[in-house]
Amino acid sequence: MCGIVGYIGEQQAAPILLAGLSKLEYRGYDSAGICVRDESTGNVEVVKAKGRLRTLIEKTDDGHSVIGTSGIGHTRWATHGEPSENNAHPHCSDDKNVVLVHNGIIENFQELKEKLVKRGYTFYSETDTEVAVKLIDYYYKKTESPLTSIATAMLHIRGSYAFGVMFKDCPNKIFAARKDSPLIIGKSEHGTLIGSDVPAILDQTRNVYYIDNMEIAELTKDEIHFFNMDEDEIEKEVVQIKWDAEAAEKGGYEHFMLKEIHEQPRAVQDTIGAYVKDNAVDFSEIGLKDEELANIERVYIVGCGSAYHVAMAAKYVLEDMTQVPVEIDIASEFRYRNPILVKNSLVVIISQSGETADSLAALRLAKEKGVAVLGVVNVVGSSIARESDHTLYTYAGPEISVATTKAYSTQLIAMYLFAMRLAQVKGLLSEEDCAKMIAELNELPAKIQKILDDKERIQWFASKYANAKDMFFLGRGLDYAISLEGSLKMKEISYIHSEAYAAGELKHGTISLIEDNTLVVGVLTQSNLYEKTISNMVEVKSRGAYLMGLTTYGNYGIEDTADFSVYVPKTDPHFATSLAIIPLQLLGYYVSVAKGLDVDKPRNLAKSVTVE
Ligand code: G6P
Repeated sequence: MCGIVGYIGEQQAAPILLAGLSKLEYRGYDSAGICVRDESTGNVEVVKAKGRLRTLIEKTDDGHSVIGTSGIGHTRWATHGEPSENNAHPHCSDDKNVVLVHNGIIENFQELKEKLVKRGYTFYSETDTEVAVKLIDYYYKKTESPLTSIATAMLHIRGSYAFGVMFKDCPNKIFAARKDSPLIIGKSEHGTLIGSDVPAILDQTRNVYYIDNMEIAELTKDEIHFFNMDEDEIEKEVVQIKWDAEAAEKGGYEHFMLKEIHEQPRAVQDTIGAYVKDNAVDFSEIGLKDEELANIERVYIVGCGSAYHVAMAAKYVLEDMTQVPVEIDIASEFRYRNPILVKNSLVVIISQSGETADSLAALRLAKEKGVAVLGVVNVVGSSIARESDHTLYTYAGPEISVATTKAYSTQLIAMYLFAMRLAQVKGLLSEEDCAKMIAELNELPAKIQKILDDKERIQWFASKYANAKDMFFLGRGLDYAISLEGSLKMKEISYIHSEAYAAGELKHGTISLIEDNTLVVGVLTQSNLYEKTISNMVEVKSRGAYLMGLTTYGNYGIEDTADFSVYVPKTDPHFATSLAIIPLQLLGYYVSVAKGLDVDKPRNLAKSVTVE
């Protein structure tokens, strides 16, 4: 997501901070800022700029005009509040004593903010980060200890974070702390550093320490001390980074797509955390009121590419849980078919970029027809986010690889949460059952991680089928929606002709394409449809197909039919897409790698399609 750099040492800090931030540009950002302290005068200067880092570099004459030898810097990718100078980091306490940069998401920021407001704090930005800096300030004023104030704040904050913190009162030191968001500490010949990612500090040093969850680092120009939450000092070993600069940008992964596939547990967790409060789905922050939900008699879900596949999965989930009829459409079809939008309906536009031309046109058409629009968007402040009546942000963070993975996964989560809230408002989901579903949702990140930990089997299988000419993906119900996305992943990055079929439809034509050794992937996560899809798999097998079966642990009988079986953990059947898609993303990825293709930038495709 965002990027952090910090430095304290003998050299001028600002040029080092800006050089480090420029190495993090690949992560995507929309504003940047630095804070530097002049250790000789105690003067602290904060400079921020919206847009490109270049603006900040020009504003500070390559950093030369900002005097001081310690500081923290940040590139922000907006999550709470639009991209603007006011929302850009670093953020400060009112007396400018505490200054902080933050990566991640503070889930209980609203609750903490209310408590701070009661204690007389005011807020100048829309960010969750300002809550963190003011919370630390609050405990600092009570304890006068930087370490205790950071530790106490950490114990009150829920969510994921990496912090870089400075205290005007405490010269010659900077602090760093983390939970579930990456952060490393470096030691160079002339100072010490913090970085959210290896490339941020690689120009300065290859000697790093890994700071673990719920630990705090205290840095001076030549020493680094680590502490746990009890403020006991912890010993750490220095590690030598051996990556080259390019590998470092990808966090050591060979491609952005693989990195983003591996970021899914975190992205899913952050999206759940943003809308689940006290074991219930809470949309109050986005202004989507229960009265409005109660009136909904029909839902239209519109998107392009993978977003459309989310729409299809959401249709199955929503109709099953809420009894509200759902129509789904590809945005470029919706906008030109003069759709009949009934009264008391809601149009949901799903888009990672928030800028897809057809999806934006579909949104405007819905509004022209007087229907309310809910945007499910990843990029804060994008056109779809701004023009929607309500926006459910997904918390995937910037996605660089053209083939979407983590944004798709977070869109699914947003739609599950929407279905759950709608079902509750319609009286079809009790509080108790909702809490059970939330518990299942909370287990998804660990289950996704478990599938990722077993990726070598898929890699091996992908290398066997890298030369395939055609592939088919089959499934019924939700498994059909999963098949569509699995097939799209395959064709867009491996250039293998691939199609997804509703399993029962195959015999109406497509089965004539099955030849000896044609790879057919059967997706079987829905127990009520299991036998039906097995029959369809048997039909293609008897015509020579080579079968991969993708099902849940326990369905070992699939091995009687499939030649190669992949299992994913069990979950609530409504959430099965979130797990079953992971092996299919990996399959597409590894076939593309085996063919030596440009995985992150497949031919003819764009990440954001802003023309129709
Ligand atoms: C492009 C991307 C796809 C994406 C689609 C919709 O085709 O390559 O990955 O699903 O656009 O983009 P959006 O930004 O609206 O989700």
